[in-house]
Amino acid sequence: MAGMSDFDFFVLARALHVFGVVMWIGGVAFVTTVLIPSLRRMPNVANRLDLFEQLEGRFSLQAKITTVITGASGYYMLEVMNAWDRYLLPQFWWMHLMTFVWGIFTLVLFVLEPLVLHRWFHQQAKKDSEKAFVRLHRMHQVLLSLSLIAVVGAVAGANGYQF
Ligand code: HEM
Repeated sequence: MAGMSDFDFFVLARALHVFGVVMWIGGVAFVTTVLIPSLRRMPNVANRLDLFEQLEGRFSLQAKITTVITGASGYYMLEVMNAWDRYLLPQFWWMHLMTFVWGIFTLVLFVLEPLVLHRWFHQQAKKDSEKAFVRLHRMHQVLLSLSLIAVVGAVAGANGYQF
């Protein structure tokens, strides 16, 4: 039978999920391993802060959109697979980790950054640029590491590996 069955939407959701993850976590990887280390080497601390705010500000919109795409497609897959009980099983730690990573980024991007982090980081960077950027770098490294462990665990788990 032609026409879109649930299965087609399911495949579409999986493809969108990975599309979202690539655009989002790929951007986080770039910011963490390329942008912040380069900024930390810039001698002019005012330029450093300006450039960071311009570039990460632009990435922030992309991250917001892709976070929504990833979350919505993940939710849809769970619903179609009726796999909510995975949250009760420790061997599905990668489901917990994916969801946790999503939750942290959602909180940071939609709540903490606009309400407090942006102003706070600006003030800290004006006071002591070195210290502020070291801390910023470390926070990005932690989030990127968790994200990458989630990606590796999820691909293995979704493709049948039994943890
Ligand atoms: C609320 C957030 C999320 C939900 C509800 C969710 C849900 C899901 C579900 C149901 C699957 C399919 C599992 C299976 O086929 O057995 C999946 C796969 C996957 N997810 Fe998530 N996910 C979320 C966030 C994330 C995040 C933040 C990442 C990346 C850090 C991620 C990366 C992946 C990857 C790489 C796959 C494997 C795709 C494949 O190999 O087919 N997900 N996710």
